[in-house]
Amino acid sequence: MKVGYYQFSPEFGKPSQNLERIRTVLSGVEADIVVLPELAFTGYCFADREELRSIAEDVSQSSTVDSLSNLCRDSNFYLVTGFAERENDKLYNSALLIGPYGLICTYRKLHLFNTEKEYFDPGDTPLQTVEIRGAKVGLMICFDWVFPEVARTLGLQGEDVLCHPSNLVLTYCQKTMLTRCL
Ligand code: ACM
Repeated sequence: MKVGYYQFSPEFGKPSQNLERIRTVLSGVEADIVVLPELAFTGYCFADREELRSIAEDVSQSSTVDSLSNLCRDSNFYLVTGFAERENDKLYNSALLIGPYGLICTYRKLHLFNTEKEYFDPGDTPLQTVEIRGAKVGLMICFDWVFPEVARTLGLQGEDVLCHPSNLVLTYCQKTMLTRCL
């Protein structure tokens, strides 16, 4: 399995621009899975819940998700991406697994970091693995790395690949993730 990532600084509040950038950079890339940052389309630093609400998308009616599904189909890979998700009155810091046939699963961040708690709702989806091309893939988001139970829960499900969209603030994560993966 060939796993890649695209690390960049999303332009805050400019989802179309970030989407265009991602589509351009990833077109022609050969991979099985590509991982994008936490909140890759909206950016990370919201002032308040209203600002987040104005830009978060419902995955069932999202032009971003549709465009990413097309990208996956054209490029024959899967994407894991951070996503500002709105569902009715709720707002989630989510990770989406998208494939050539569309959205496969959504994970909503359980451990919100610092001021994220002022505008996001805590996640209400289970930690789960999904089989992609013979490998079990699990999702977690940034600050989830602090809590060993997240990686352990996924590990107990036989996960092979841990995808971790992030917008890192603390400095210990890169070392800690080696341990989580072990
Ligand atoms: C973080 O969870 N983005 C620090």
